[in-house]
Amino acid sequence: MSQPFLATLLDAATEAYRPGGKFAYHFARGKLGTDPIFRNLLSQGLIPSDTRILDLGCGQAVFASWLLAARRLYEQGDWPAGWPEAPRIESLRGIELMPRDVARAHQALGADHPTVRIELGDICACDFGTVDVVTIFDVLHYVDYRRQDDVLRRIREALAPGGRLILRIGDAAGGLPFRISNWVDHVVTFVRGHRLPQLWCRSLAEWRAQLEALGFTVETQPMSEGKPFANVMLVARVPEARQSDSDARPLGLAGAI
Ligand SMILES: C[S@@+](CC[C@H](N)C(=O)[O-])C[C@H]1O[C@@H](n2cnc3c(N)ncnc32)[C@H](O)[C@@H]1O
Repeated sequence: MSQPFLATLLDAATEAYRPGGKFAYHFARGKLGTDPIFRNLLSQGLIPSDTRILDLGCGQAVFASWLLAARRLYEQGDWPAGWPEAPRIESLRGIELMPRDVARAHQALGADHPTVRIELGDICACDFGTVDVVTIFDVLHYVDYRRQDDVLRRIREALAPGGRLILRIGDAAGGLPFRISNWVDHVVTFVRGHRLPQLWCRSLAEWRAQLEALGFTVETQPMSEGKPFANVMLVARVPEARQSDSDARPLGLAGAI
């Protein structure tokens, strides 16, 4: 992918954070500019159009801003030839525990955006509703194992037939790269003004087994590109509706991996 297009997309997705101050702006640029998951979600077409998206532990909502910017550029005809169409968002609901992140998200995207709603809440307690896509990037290791299992179970219940969960985790069986990413996680959490957290990590095999036990079909991809981390993206799919299911909203699976 050409660097000039990624630079344009990065500018488009982060400009809205400028009024929120230096931290909000530079954090958004650092995250979206260096983390490969955001680019891969678009280049692989993993977020289908016209879906209801739930982003759990959304931070200051850089993923929502990235998707909105991508669609704007796509509609302007500024889009890489080899990439699938940028997703058109039906709705995106983000849930975040930290008031400061929610405030930064509201300042950047608007508290009354027509399609994106960022809420202050605890993913271990709030209702998920019914959605088509759940994203949860680098979040679940902040909650204990019992609550992780409960969140995964409720995500499975919230997903419509044909829906998907896109999860990124650090593979606890990943050796030194895992220890490096854990160390960076502590530093970033501290820099963002939070206490040093206790982390509840699992191996990739354990995450996969947990998801398969809930009835998901799971595919995985390394997602640390260019960094010495043990990060993995899991795409966990819910089976399509049976013929008799009247409320089915099957997703286009053009971007299936
Ligand atoms: C490493 S950050 C990732 C943020 C975002 N997913 C991203 O990729 O930019 C983890 C986020 O999860 C949030 N978080 C942790 N536990 C949470 C909970 N129980 N409910 C909601 N958010 C939570 C943290 O406040 C933090 O913003």
